[in-house]
Amino acid sequence: MNDEPVHESDLAASWRVELQSLLHDVEAAEVVEPTAMQLATADADGRPSVRTVLRKGLDDRGVVFFTNLDSRKGRELAANPRAALVLPYVTLHRQVCVVGDVEQVTRAETVAYATSRPRGSQVSAWASRQSQPVADRATLEAQWAELDGRFGSEGPVPVPDFWGGFRVLPISVEFWWGRRDRLHDRFRYRRADGVPGSADDGGWVLERLNP
Ligand SMILES: Cc1cc2nc3c(=O)[nH]c(=O)nc-3n(C[C@H](O)[C@H](O)[C@H](O)COP(=O)(O)O)c2cc1C
Repeated sequence: MNDEPVHESDLAASWRVELQSLLHDVEAAEVVEPTAMQLATADADGRPSVRTVLRKGLDDRGVVFFTNLDSRKGRELAANPRAALVLPYVTLHRQVCVVGDVEQVTRAETVAYATSRPRGSQVSAWASRQSQPVADRATLEAQWAELDGRFGSEGPVPVPDFWGGFRVLPISVEFWWGRRDRLHDRFRYRRADGVPGSADDGGWVLERLNP
C-alpha cells in the first residue's frame, strides 16, 4: 500500500483525467481483466441486481459497455435508465464508484464495436438469449453451430438488433485510496445540479468524503 496522503490539490480538474491517470497505473500493474467493472441496475420496483461487464469506452460524457438489450440488465435499463459502477482495483488498494443516468449508444457505435469482435463471439451474440433459461449446454452449442452455418462459417456476421451498448453518464465519480489504519482517502466529483454533463464543462464540485 502506498501510504502517501492524497490532497485535493493532487487531483485532476476532471474525473475523466483523474480516471485516465489511474487506468495508466492499472495497465502498468498488469491487473487481471483491467477493463472489468461491476454494473448495478434496478428494476422498476427498485430491486437491485449487479454483474461484471467490460469497459469498452471512456470519454468526456461517460463510460461505455456492450450487452444483449433483452438481458436482465438491458430490460432493467430500459425501464429505469440509471446505473452504478464499481471499477475495482483492489490489488492497488484503489476503487472508483460511479453513479449516473444511462443512454443507449448509437447503432453506428454498436456496429463498429460488434464487428471488431472475434467471429465466434459475434455468433455467440446471436446464439445466446442472454439471461433466459436454457435446457442444457448441448442446446446452446447446437444453436451456435446452426447459426455459424447460416452465416456461412467464414462469412461476416450481422449485428443483432437486440445487441447494443450503454453509456453511463455520471452525476458522481468517487475515487478511493486505501490508507493505513483504514483512515482512507476519498474524493468525489459531483454534478452541482445533479444532471449529467461533460467532464470538462465546469459543472462539477470536488469534495473529500469521510472514509
Ligand atoms: C470478466 C467478465 C466480463 C464480462 N463482460 C461482459 C460484458 O461486457 N457484457 C455482458 O453482457 N456480459 C458480460 N459478462 C457476463 C455478465 O457478468 C452477466 O453474466 C451477463 O451479462 C448477464 O447479466 P444479466 O442477466 O444481469 O443481464 C462478463 C462477466 C465477467 C466475469
